[in-house]
Amino acid sequence: MAHGISDSLITDSDAQAGKCRIPSILFACDTAPEMQTNLDTRAGNAMIHEVIVTTTSQSGVTHIAPMGIRERGELVVISPAQPSTTLENLLQTRCAAVNFTDDVRIFAGCLTGRHDWPLFAANRIAAPRLAEALAHREVELVDVEEDATRPKLLCRVLHEETHRPFHGFNRAQAAVLELAILVSRLERLPLQKIVEEMAYLLTAVEKTAGPREQRAWEWLMERITAHPSNAEQGQ
Ligand SMILES: Cc1cc2nc3c(=O)[nH]c(=O)nc-3n(C[C@H](O)[C@H](O)[C@H](O)COP(=O)(O)O)c2cc1C
Repeated sequence: MAHGISDSLITDSDAQAGKCRIPSILFACDTAPEMQTNLDTRAGNAMIHEVIVTTTSQSGVTHIAPMGIRERGELVVISPAQPSTTLENLLQTRCAAVNFTDDVRIFAGCLTGRHDWPLFAANRIAAPRLAEALAHREVELVDVEEDATRPKLLCRVLHEETHRPFHGFNRAQAAVLELAILVSRLERLPLQKIVEEMAYLLTAVEKTAGPREQRAWEWLMERITAHPSNAEQGQ
């Protein structure tokens, strides 16, 4: 009997069989191509939180947009696509409010042309914060990592405040966020994929949604139904 620790059971068995001069034949039965994961395992860098970013233009016009943010040490990393109002505003005025909210109507609303959400003045920056935020951070742009499609905006937290308690996870809220992301990619994704994922997400909405989640879901559904590729499918 051969004992030892190796990379895998297979390589170990083969190596030890060889050492013990036991004839062995290896049949490679897994012919799947090598897979590379994009997972960035550096501490804290891979986790994304979906938030609402409020910014102001140089002329004082407020903009509200859902964004995924990361944390890098003490810094908040916002990655708005090129071109976008959020990117333009942040580069111009160098500040933003990062709003943590469980009101998924704001995510769905912004993606379906409903941008008019109540705001309060922030403490340290010109951009306002969402009135509905459970908590918010006021951030200042300190560095930009250039990228042709999605530059990384590194921001320092100037001020943070908690306004309301978090009441726990809700599956319908997660489902609305997933559908909102699909809707934000409506131009790029095949409609069939969206419809399939929607069918799966619907179960959580039917079982666990409150009025806000139902409304947000309806807005997103309307947007999908109205999309030209849907009309083409129906012909
Ligand atoms: C949950 C969620 C997260 C999003 N995260 C990002 C993001 O990190 N970067 C981005 O450019 N767009 C993101 N989007 C899409 C933008 O909110 C949307 O395209 C928006 O119009 C941004 O452009 P704007 O600043 O010009 O409004 C996200 C959308 C959703 C629903």
